[in-house]
Amino acid sequence: MMMLWARLLLTLLSLSLLPTTSCGDMESLPGKYEARRPPTVIIVGSGISGVSAAHRLYTNGFQRLRVLEATGRSGGRIRSQAYGKGFIDLGAQWIHGPSPDNPVYQLASQYSLLDPDALTKENQDVEVDGHLPLFSITYNSSGKRISQTLVANITELYSSWLKQSQNVSKEQCDPKSSVGGFIKQKIAGKVKAWDTATADTKLALLHGLLNLECCISGTHSMDYVALCPYGEYRMLPGLDCTFPGGYESLVNQIKSPLPNDTVLFNKTVKTIQWNGTFQGSDSRIYPVQVQCEDGDTFVADHVIVTVSLGILKERASSFLSPPLPVHKTQAIQNLGFGTNNKIIMEFKEPFWDPDCRTIQLVWEGESPLTEPKINMKQDWVKKIPGFVVLERPEKIGHLLCTFIAGDESEYMETLTDDEVLSSMTALLRQFTGNPNLPPPIRLIRTRWSSEPYTRGSYSHVAVGSSGRDVDILAEPVPNYGAKPFQVLFAGEATHRTFYSTTHGALLSGRREAERLIARYQELDELHNKSKL
Ligand SMILES: Cc1cc2nc3c(=O)[nH]c(=O)nc-3n(C[C@H](O)[C@H](O)[C@H](O)COP(=O)(O)OP(=O)(O)OC[C@H]3O[C@@H](n4cnc5c(N)ncnc54)[C@H](O)[C@@H]3O)c2cc1C
Ligand SMILES: *[C@@H]1O[C@H](CO)[C@@H](O)[C@H](O)[C@H]1NC(C)=O
Ligand SMILES: *[C@@H]1O[C@H](CO)[C@@H](O)[C@H](O)[C@H]1NC(C)=O
Ligand SMILES: *[C@@H]1O[C@H](CO)[C@@H](O)[C@H](O)[C@H]1NC(C)=O
Ligand SMILES: *[C@@H]1O[C@H](CO)[C@@H](O)[C@H](O)[C@H]1NC(C)=O
Ligand SMILES: *[C@@H]1O[C@H](CO)[C@@H](O)[C@H](O)[C@H]1NC(C)=O
Ligand SMILES: *[C@@H]1O[C@H](CO)[C@@H](O)[C@H](O)[C@H]1NC(C)=O
Ligand SMILES: *[C@@H]1O[C@H](CO)[C@@H](O)[C@H](O)[C@H]1NC(C)=O
Repeated sequence: MMMLWARLLLTLLSLSLLPTTSCGDMESLPGKYEARRPPTVIIVGSGISGVSAAHRLYTNGFQRLRVLEATGRSGGRIRSQAYGKGFIDLGAQWIHGPSPDNPVYQLASQYSLLDPDALTKENQDVEVDGHLPLFSITYNSSGKRISQTLVANITELYSSWLKQSQNVSKEQCDPKSSVGGFIKQKIAGKVKAWDTATADTKLALLHGLLNLECCISGTHSMDYVALCPYGEYRMLPGLDCTFPGGYESLVNQIKSPLPNDTVLFNKTVKTIQWNGTFQGSDSRIYPVQVQCEDGDTFVADHVIVTVSLGILKERASSFLSPPLPVHKTQAIQNLGFGTNNKIIMEFKEPFWDPDCRTIQLVWEGESPLTEPKINMKQDWVKKIPGFVVLERPEKIGHLLCTFIAGDESEYMETLTDDEVLSSMTALLRQFTGNPNLPPPIRLIRTRWSSEPYTRGSYSHVAVGSSGRDVDILAEPVPNYGAKPFQVLFAGEATHRTFYSTTHGALLSGRREAERLIARYQELDELHNKSKL
C-alpha cells in the first residue's frame, strides 16, 4: 500500500511539473524530449500477445517497431501443423467462451476463420459456466463400460463443488488453502454415505476428474492451485470451438498488416539493459538496449516482454539488468506455471461410435483421498483422464487426442515416440477390453516443458500467490519518473482474469500497447499546452 501511494504521488508530481518547467534542458523535460521523436518499441516474442501488441501500436502510428522472436516462427504456444487435408493444433485448440466479449472470437469471426455453426447465436449463448461436458463413453480399467447415470451423478456433484470453490468468501479464506484440498474435503464428507458397492468407482471417477482439472489448470496437482483467488478467473459464455484452418491462421491474420521485416526470427533475446543511456546509430540516446544471443543489439525507448512465465522463472535473474524489483521477482517465483501436453494418435479405423466425442478412463482402485505411490515408468499413463475425438475426420482422418499434466507429463517428454506409442496401445487395449485393438498408425505428442522458449504450458495462481501477483507481474518498470515504462510485460500470465488463455494473452498485448499509446498522447498534449 505504501508503495502504491508513493508511486501515485510521484506520477502526479512529474505530470504537474511538466507544463510549467521552463524549456531548455532536455533531460529535465523528459516529456518533450520523448515526444519530439517517434518512440522505438521492441517486442520480445511473437506469440499472440506480441503480435497483438505490435498490431495495436502499428495501427496507432508507432512505426519504429520490431518483434524479436527466438524461434523460426510466429505463434508461440499457438502452433498448427498441416495434417492430411487439414490441420492439427499442438498448442491452443479451442476458443474458450466464443461470444461477443471474447476478442479472439471477435477477430476469428471478422477474419472468417470459423465454421458457420460456430457463428450461430445459439452457440454464443450457451452458458457452460464451468460445467464439464459429459464424456460420451466411460471405460474402467477392467475394460468395462460404466453406467452413464452413475457417471452423470458424480460429474454433477464434482461440478457443483468446483463451482463452490470459485465462490468462497474472500474474508474467510485461508490463503494456504487449495482447490484440491477444498474438493477433497467435500469428497471426504460424502464418501461415508456411499454404498460400498459403488464407492470405489465413484472415488476413481473423481480421481480422473481431478486429473482432467490438472490439464485445464496446467498443474501437477490441484493441491497447488490457490483456492482464495480461484474465482477471479472469468469464464465467458459460448460453446468452445476450433479453427478449421488451425489456430495459427488467427496469428497470421493479426500479423498481416505489419511490414514484412517487423518480426525478426531466430533472434533470441539474452538480456535487456534498462535505466541506461545507450547511443543508437541515429546518435540519439535511448534508455534501453536489448542484446541477443547472436551478438546483435537493439536500442529502444520501450521493450514489451511477452515471453512465458516459464521463461521468466528460468531466466529472471539474468534477463534484466538492473534486475527487476524484489516484488516483481517474487511474483514470478510465486505464480504457478505447469505442464499440459497432448498425445495425438491416428487410427486406420475408428474403434469408437460415429457420434462419440470423448472417451473417459476410470482407474479402479485410485482415489483422491489416498496418495498414490508412483512408479513413473509403469504408472505415468494413469494421469490420463481420457480422449477427445478430433473434429473433421474427413480432412484429418480418425484422430484421438489426449491431455496429460504435471510430473507424469514431463516424464512422458523423456520417452521415445515408440515407447509412448506402445504404452498408449496397451492402455487402450486394457480399457476397451479388446486385446487385439490395432495400434495407432501415427502418433504425435508435444513436449511443452522441454521447449527451450516456453518451458511449460500455461500459468495458474498457485498456493502462496494471489491475483495481486498477476497485477504486479504486469507492472512496467519503472512505473514513474522521467522515463517510465522502459520495460513492459504482457503475455497470458499477466492477465488477472483470463490467464492461461489465448484471449488473455491477446488482451495483455493490447493493454501494454495502449499504455504506450496513452503515454505519448499525454506527452503530445503537454507539449501542445506548453507551446501556448
Ligand atoms: C498444450 C496447450 C494447449 C492449450 N490450449 C488452449 C486452448 O484450447 N485455448 C486457449 O485459449 N489457450 C490454450 N492454451 C494456452 C495458449 O496457447 C497461451 O495462453 C497463449 O498462446 C500464450 O500466448 P503468449 O503470447 O502469452 O505466449 P507465447 O505464445 O509463449 O509467446 C511467447 C513467444 O516468446 C518467444 N520467446 C521466448 N523466449 C524468448 C527470448 N529469449 N527471445 C525472443 N523470443 C522469445 C517464444 O518463442 C514465443 O514465440 C494452450 C497451451 C498449451 C501449451
Ligand atoms: C531460423 O532457423 C531455422 C533453423 O535453423 C531455419 O530453418 C529457418 O530458416 C530460420 N528462419 C529464419 C527466418 O531465419
Ligand atoms: C468395471 O466396471 C464393471 C461394470 O460396471 C464392474 O462390473 C467391474 O467390477 C468394474 N471393475 C472394477 C475393478 O471395479
Ligand atoms: C444419482 O443421484 C440421485 C440423488 O441425487 C440418487 O437418488 C441416485 O440413486 C443416483 N444414481 C446413481 C446411479 O448413483
Ligand atoms: C456464492 O456464495 C454466496 C454467499 O456465500 C451464495 O449466496 C451464492 O448462492 C453462491 N453462488 C453460487 C453460484 O454458488
Ligand atoms: C511481404 O511478403 C509477401 C510474401 O512473402 C509479399 O507478397 C509482400 O509483397 C511483402 N510485403 C511487403 C510490404 O514487403
Ligand atoms: C537507475 O539509475 C539511477 C541513476 O543512475 C539510479 O539512481 C537508480 O538507482 C537506477 N535504478 C535502478 C532500478 O537500478
Ligand atoms: C498537438 O498539436 C498538433 C499540431 O498542432 C496536433 O496535430 C495534435 O493533434 C495535438 N495533439 C494533441 C494530443 O492534442
